[in-house]
Amino acid sequence: MKAEFEFEFMETATDQSTPPFVPPRAKLVDLDGVPMNEYFASNWEKKSNFQARPDDVLVVTYPKSGTTWMQEIADLVHFNGDIEFAKRAPIQIRVPFFEITHPDVIKRPNGLDLIAEMKPPRFIKSHLPYKLLPKSFFENDCKIIYVARNAKDVLVSYYYFERMLQFEPDPGTWEEFFMNYLAGRVNYGSWWDHVREWWENKEKHRVLFIFFEDMKENLHREVTKVAKFLDKDLSEDALDRIVHHTSFSKMKDNPMTNYKMAPSWVIDHSISSFMRKGEVGDWKNHLTVAQNEIFDEVYKKLMAGSSLTFKHEL
Ligand code: A3P
Repeated sequence: MKAEFEFEFMETATDQSTPPFVPPRAKLVDLDGVPMNEYFASNWEKKSNFQARPDDVLVVTYPKSGTTWMQEIADLVHFNGDIEFAKRAPIQIRVPFFEITHPDVIKRPNGLDLIAEMKPPRFIKSHLPYKLLPKSFFENDCKIIYVARNAKDVLVSYYYFERMLQFEPDPGTWEEFFMNYLAGRVNYGSWWDHVREWWENKEKHRVLFIFFEDMKENLHREVTKVAKFLDKDLSEDALDRIVHHTSFSKMKDNPMTNYKMAPSWVIDHSISSFMRKGEVGDWKNHLTVAQNEIFDEVYKKLMAGSSLTFKHEL
């Protein structure tokens, strides 16, 4: 008989051994008009027909927008700020990644395997655009926490990440990635489509829309919003504990959130840390003046008519 929070997949999920051969980087495939990592797009019918439960809670983001940060916060809020309990497993097991499918040769549990194993309420992460999220999550009126981050910092963070994560599509040079990102030719497609579609549809569902920049500005205020959304009446002490435990430096040092457990053929930490900088405005250290001008022009065009605004610095 398994203990309530013992995970069947714990061992394989944290396995450090090298596979017989390292799988190739993914190609991008078209999923209903959205470029997607071929591994994540595989087995799509099963993913798309997933049966949600009404008490499932989703953390949805465009990649590199503070997903891991919100996963950790949501788990802690649900368990009343119990820091010790949050150490029971790495974040990718506590709040599994819905659409992840590993290359065949990697014997790691896929998102659906982990979710099938969970006890309700299940907290689940996804990067899917609004139109690709399985309908069952909406039909069951599941709560969704959407975290958005400004497009320039996402671009920089994404570039480092694509270089580190060995089964993502090859990002090429910084200049190439810059152009592909603007054109939406990256995994999960256009940042603009993603944030705009979630923003424009949020009132139809139970969506809490949170900004990375607001979390940086006042984490206590944003954690309080999450607690209210999840119907958790937390003490000031518990809120303070969560804020303290989810600071950038704490999460960078925490083996349950910093992905250092992943072997180098999955995440190459010699290229960058997963917890890299965690700042607002790091794009200023990366975009040239010319790139910034191009970016602003594209940004203006693609955000035209939207009420959605972002802080690009604090
Ligand atoms: P940088 O690469 O800019 O440092 P995701 O989890 O969606 O992949 O996002 C990762 C980004 O969020 C990284 O950004 C990471 O450093 C940042 N991040 C993660 N936890 C954070 C925290 N507690 N405070 C600030 N930033 C955090």
